Amino acid sequence: MDRLKTDQVFQSYGRCCRSELFFVEFYANFMSSSDTIRRRFANTDMEAQRHLLRNGIMQLILHARGMSDRKLRALGESHNRDHYNIDPQWYSLWLDALMRTVRTHDPEYTPQLEKDWREVIGPGIELIRGAY
Ligand code: HEM
Repeated sequence: MDRLKTDQVFQSYGRCCRSELFFVEFYANFMSSSDTIRRRFANTDMEAQRHLLRNGIMQLILHARGMSDRKLRALGESHNRDHYNIDPQWYSLWLDALMRTVRTHDPEYTPQLEKDWREVIGPGIELIRGAY
């Protein structure tokens, strides 16, 4: 993957992570996309979940930078039909919710940057989704 693109996305993520609100709003956006999804987090400790997700998104970016896919494979397993049973169709809602959140939290957001985000983290998402 183009190093310049993954750098742009890495830096954008750094700007987003300056505020914990990024993760609060991500889950608000994601849960507002469907009641079925909202119900999946009904008994979740959301503070812990936000920390786990912070790391999970980092893993998606690092994967594009050539890092081992061991951690993403573990996420693929936890989300598969035998565990959380996450319908593969939900990943596009997940990505759209993430992009909506980046748009409002990264002061340097541009439509091109959003394209880069989608391109950079797409393969890592496919890895998790494909493990269903
Ligand atoms: C590529 C996109 C995604 C990433 C990076 C991601 C990341 C994570 C991480 C890091 C965890 C905690 C670690 C673990 O339990 O394995 C987790 C748990 C979870 N994720 Fe995802 N996830 C993604 C997509 C989704 C989608 C689309 C759903 C649909 C509802 C979902 C629902 C859940 C649930 C229900 C849990 C467990 C919550 C609990 O412990 O109560 N995830 N996810």
